[in-house]
Amino acid sequence: MAVERTLSIIKPDATRRNLTGKINAKFEDGGLRIVAQKRVQLSKAQAEQFYGVHRERPFFGDLVSFMISGPVVLQVLEGENAIARNREIMGATNPANAAEGTIRKEFAESIEANSVHGSDAPETAAQEIAFFFAGIELVG
Ligand code: CMP
Repeated sequence: MAVERTLSIIKPDATRRNLTGKINAKFEDGGLRIVAQKRVQLSKAQAEQFYGVHRERPFFGDLVSFMISGPVVLQVLEGENAIARNREIMGATNPANAAEGTIRKEFAESIEANSVHGSDAPETAAQEIAFFFAGIELVG
């Protein structure tokens, strides 16, 4: 298995409820290392560009509004098979389908306010990391 990096976002529903530490413990206990992290308020333009692949979906406008409704924590997670591993730790997109012990099962409020985002493939991970982080911010 290769060491990979993936982009993670702790979403506004989770920062609002002060869950950053509890979510980070799930990543670390699950074998991932947080190699970069910053708390920011996304602009509408940034959120629209980041989620551009979903532009035609009916939930796009609500998703963008939600993602700019409060601060988010942007992170790069590193580890063996980090992209798939992070998706296991997060659980299914819809918390109603998420397995016991996952972040979304424990913390998500709805399919929209689902506490975390994680990249879904190596190509998107590379793009999403580069969208938010400069190389100098990744210290390993
Ligand atoms: P995320 O992994 O951040 O990628 C896109 C997000 O759209 C997804 O998590 C959900 O929070 C959100 N979303 C809202 N409604 C839907 C839906 N019906 N199907 C899929 N994703 C949705």
